[in-house]
Amino acid sequence: SFILLAFPFGQHRVGRSQRRGGGGGAEKKKRYHRIQHGQCSYTFILPELDGCQAAGSTEQYGSARSRTSVVQRDSPTMDGDWPTQKLQHLENTMENNTQWLQKLESFVQKTLRRDVANIPSHVVHNQTAAMLEIGTNLLTHTAEQTRKLNVVEAKVLNHTSRIEIQLLENSLSTNKLEKELLLQTSEIGRLRDKNSRLENKVQKLESQQRGELEDMRQEKNRLQSVVRTQMSAIESLERQLRVASSNNTALQRQQALLMESVHTLINMVSATGTQPQAHARSDICQMWRDCADVYKAGHSVSGLYHIYIGNRTEPLQVYCDMETDGGGWTVFQRRFNGSVDFQRSWSEYRMGFGDVLGEHWLGNEALHHLTSQGQYSLRVELRDWEGNSAHSQYDRFTLGSERQQYRLYLRGYSGTAGRQSSLASHGTRFSTRDQDNDNCDHCKCALMLTGGWWFDACGFSNLNGIYYAIGHNIRKLNGIKWHHFRGPSYSLHSTAMMARPYDF
Ligand SMILES: *[C@@H]1O[C@H](CO)[C@@H](O)[C@H](O)[C@H]1NC(C)=O
Ligand SMILES: *[C@@H]1O[C@H](CO)[C@@H](O)[C@H](O)[C@H]1NC(C)=O
Ligand SMILES: *[C@@H]1O[C@H](CO)[C@@H](O)[C@H](O)[C@H]1NC(C)=O
Ligand SMILES: *[C@@H]1O[C@H](CO)[C@@H](O)[C@H](O)[C@H]1NC(C)=O
Ligand SMILES: *[C@@H]1O[C@H](CO)[C@@H](O)[C@H](O)[C@H]1NC(C)=O
Ligand SMILES: *[C@@H]1O[C@H](CO)[C@@H](O)[C@H](O)[C@H]1NC(C)=O
Repeated sequence: SFILLAFPFGQHRVGRSQRRGGGGGAEKKKRYHRIQHGQCSYTFILPELDGCQAAGSTEQYGSARSRTSVVQRDSPTMDGDWPTQKLQHLENTMENNTQWLQKLESFVQKTLRRDVANIPSHVVHNQTAAMLEIGTNLLTHTAEQTRKLNVVEAKVLNHTSRIEIQLLENSLSTNKLEKELLLQTSEIGRLRDKNSRLENKVQKLESQQRGELEDMRQEKNRLQSVVRTQMSAIESLERQLRVASSNNTALQRQQALLMESVHTLINMVSATGTQPQAHARSDICQMWRDCADVYKAGHSVSGLYHIYIGNRTEPLQVYCDMETDGGGWTVFQRRFNGSVDFQRSWSEYRMGFGDVLGEHWLGNEALHHLTSQGQYSLRVELRDWEGNSAHSQYDRFTLGSERQQYRLYLRGYSGTAGRQSSLASHGTRFSTRDQDNDNCDHCKCALMLTGGWWFDACGFSNLNGIYYAIGHNIRKLNGIKWHHFRGPSYSLHSTAMMARPYDF
């Protein structure tokens, strides 16, 4: 709805710019349109349409542009084309409308000027009202178009700002990425520095180690040369020792030879002169087979002698007992103070061990060869901790070879150490902790009773058991035992085992 006011007014010209200013200006709430007709001027007051803030919008747009001009440089141009064209079109339409309005206006004015004189005023009024209605319609149309324009403008702005925001975000993230890149570059640089420093260090260490290695090599060479000189020294010493020992044995033989010569001379002097010839052969030969030979050669002092058992060329050191029961005994076992350990292996019992002048075992191999030379007797000397002595003697004594596990054959027992023999006489084999040849089916006597012995199952004797000192020697099953002398659990003080030809 609109109000139509008509009143006389001064001379006015209606300008195009005025109307347009009215459409865009925000200072008025209503639009005024005036039309001059003769002395009358018509003013139309039209309601303002909502959302037609063209000037405000334009201002907004401008300020937005200046605000975001920083990122505008990167903005693509394609999105502005469509709205711009549309705007252009709308403007053109408006221009056309305005032109049309002007034309109408001038036409109306002309017509009015020509006809107003002869037409009655109500007709003029009627016509004028109709024309005003048309004009009003046109204005309404224009205002609608302007509103649409504004909406489009706002849309464009929205779109543009969104793009700008996106661009801003993009540039921000680009900046961030650039910073990160810079950081990483500097980090890489730092790592490279560190690496080169480490490399330097490693090189230094390597050179140091090389130096140390060189030093060590020199030291090693020096030590090797020292070892070489010492080896040669040892070799020369050994050579000297060999020479000396051969000198020694040669001297001993010479001495023995001299002794025999002296004996022979004495015999020759004391006797008729024809008898000693039979005896002389063995004396001159100097190869005593046992202590009986030594005794017969005139040595009646117990001690160390060299004998040649079997047909061996190497001499064997033995202890000869020249006192017991007439002397001439070759001792093969002696114990009296526990200084030698008798817990030994098979091979040690085979080769013998200990000190021939002290406690020792002569060796099963030597014993086998000794008792294979002829008929031998065995004597066992015993002494307990209370000072009592006893002995056991066997007329016949033979020891088998190692293949026969050093079997023991005995015959003709006699003696004071029990009325019965404490040694089994029927071919008992020798056992050590590492060779179980005893007659016990489910036990190892050498492990239980210790030492090496002719264990039966396990039998009444073991002179190679553990040596127990006085006070500890009672109730010991693995001690030095001779059952028929002091019972099954008494460990003796001293023992000796010795062999002599049966016909001595
Ligand atoms: C404006 O009017 C002219 C004729 O007066 C016409 O040819 C043209 O197409 C019109 N433009 C628009 C956008 O209406
Ligand atoms: C003009 O006004 C008269 C009354 O004064 C009326 O009778 C007539 O119908 C009107 N004409 C038009 C075109 O409105
Ligand atoms: C753009 O328009 C959308 C709806 O079409 C609206 O949610 C958003 O808030 C507008 N953005 C701006 C900046 O006006
Ligand atoms: C004993 O040694 C000396 C050197 O010390 C040597 O001349 C001599 O020939 C050696 N005698 C024997 C029998 O080996
Ligand atoms: C030693 O004598 C035995 C016979 O008693 C003989 O079989 C053996 O070959 C001899 N050994 C040597 C090295 O002469
Ligand atoms: C045992 O006797 C030997 C030989 O007489 C001697 O060398 C050794 O020192 C003695 N040992 C002990 C523990 O009495």
